[in-house]
Amino acid sequence: MSDQPIRIFISGACAGLAEARDALASHADIELVGTSSEAAKAGGKLASTGAQVVLHAVQHAETVPVDEIARIREHTAAPIILLVTQGSPNLFDEAVTLGLNDVLLLPQFSDNLVFTVKKAHSMGSMSAGGAANGTRRSTDTSRVITLFSPKGGVGKTVLATNMAAMYAKRLKKRTLLIDLDLQFGDAAIMLSADPRSTILDLVMSHGELDSDKLSGFVTHHESGLHVLPAPLRPEDADLVTEDRLASVLMAAKQAYDIVIIDTAPNFTSTVLTALDKTDELLLVASLEATSLKSVKVCIQTLEMLHYPLERCHVVLNRADTRVGLRKDQVEATLGKSIRFGVPSNKAVPSAINRGVPVVMTEPKSDVTRAIRELCVALSPEAAALESAAPAARLSRRERKQLANAAPHQLAASAPGEELRLDLDAA
Ligand SMILES: Nc1ncnc2c1ncn2[C@@H]1O[C@H](COP(=O)(O)OP(=O)(O)OP(=O)(O)O)[C@@H](O)[C@H]1O
Ligand SMILES: [Mg+2]
Repeated sequence: MSDQPIRIFISGACAGLAEARDALASHADIELVGTSSEAAKAGGKLASTGAQVVLHAVQHAETVPVDEIARIREHTAAPIILLVTQGSPNLFDEAVTLGLNDVLLLPQFSDNLVFTVKKAHSMGSMSAGGAANGTRRSTDTSRVITLFSPKGGVGKTVLATNMAAMYAKRLKKRTLLIDLDLQFGDAAIMLSADPRSTILDLVMSHGELDSDKLSGFVTHHESGLHVLPAPLRPEDADLVTEDRLASVLMAAKQAYDIVIIDTAPNFTSTVLTALDKTDELLLVASLEATSLKSVKVCIQTLEMLHYPLERCHVVLNRADTRVGLRKDQVEATLGKSIRFGVPSNKAVPSAINRGVPVVMTEPKSDVTRAIRELCVALSPEAAALESAAPAARLSRRERKQLANAAPHQLAASAPGEELRLDLDAA
C-alpha cells in the first residue's frame, strides 16, 4: 500500500454529515478531494478528482438510493460507502448486493469513520486487482490492446483514444490509456486531458511499481477513462526503460479491465516490451500503398519474432475511402484478412479540434458504431455490462438503430467482396 493519503469524495446530505466530513478531512491518512450535495451534480468533478473512496449520504434510507448511486457510478469505479442517519434492517444486505462497499449509521466516532474508509479502499484496491496483501484479481478477463502501425498518421491515436473512451464511458470498463508514443505522444491533447503527471514521473518514482502506485499518477478524463500520458519533452523518452515499463504494464493489467496502448510508428524496444504484454494487437492500416506495404512488412517481422499472429488483427481505418481497391486485393497484398474497418468521417477531425472523442460528440455516427463493434468484439462481455449499467441504458430508438446498423466487421464479408461503400467505384 502507498503511504499517500486516501482521496475521498463526499456527496449527498444528511444530519451529522458536516461533523463526519470534518473528522475525516482533518485526519492525516485522508484527503478530502471534493464534495457535492447532490449526486447528480457530482459528475465531472468526481471523475477529475481521482477519488479512491466515495461516501454518499442520504437522510432516510429505507432502500438503497439506486438512481443516485447509478449517477455516481457513471463517473467512478471507486468503492462507495453509504452514510445514513436512519436505515432499515435490510439496508446493509441490499447495499452489498448492489455492489456498495459499506453502510455507516451516523453519528460515528472519528476512528470508526477512518477505519471504514481504509477498509473500503483496501477492498477496492483488491477487487480492482491491487497488490494489497499480495491478493491479486485474476487477470483472465483483463485485456491489453495495443494499436500499432509502422506508418505514421494512419489513425492509431484516433482509434486508441476513442476505443478507450468507448470502453470507459459506454461499456463501463475500468480503462487505462497508456501513451507509448514516448517522444511525440498526443493522446492527452486529443482528450484535452490536463496531465497531473506522465509515465515519466511514474517510472522515475521511488519504490515498487504496483497498481496502488499507478493510481496516484494517472490523469482522470471526464469519460471515466484514466490516462497515463507520454513525457512532456521528447528528450525524456529514453528515461522510460524497458524493465520499468514492463512493471507499469503488469500493474496496469492487474488494476484495469482494459488497457489500451497507443504507440509511435516505429519498432522500438518500447513497442516490443508492450507487445510482450499485449493480448490483442491491432495493426492499423489505411488504403494507401505505402501503409499497406508497411503493415505487410510489420506482419512479416512479427512472424520472424514468432509473435502469435492469432492475436494480431488488421484494422482498416478510413475503410470507405474510394481508391479502387477491393477487399480481396488488400488481403492478398497483406497475406492476412482484414478483421475490422472504421469509416472516414469528418466529425473525427472536428472532434479532435474540440478535444473530445468522436464517440462522445457523435454517439450515433457510423464511426462510433464501428468503434463500438471493434471494442465489443475484443471484449465480448463488455456488451453485457453496457446493457446492465443504468447509465449506459439506450433508448428504444437507439437500440433499434444499433440493431439495424450494418456491421463494420469486415471479416464477415466474403472473399472478393468489395470493401464497404464501393471502394472500386472510384
Ligand atoms: N476515421 C477517420 N475519419 C476521419 N479522419 C480521420 C480518421 N482517422 C484519423 N483521421 C485523421 O487522421 C489524422 C491522423 O490520425 P492519428 O493522429 O490518429 O494518426 P497516428 O497513426 O496516431 O499518427 P502518428 O503515427 O503520427 O502518431 C487525424 O488528425 C485525423 O484528422
Ligand atoms: Mg499517434
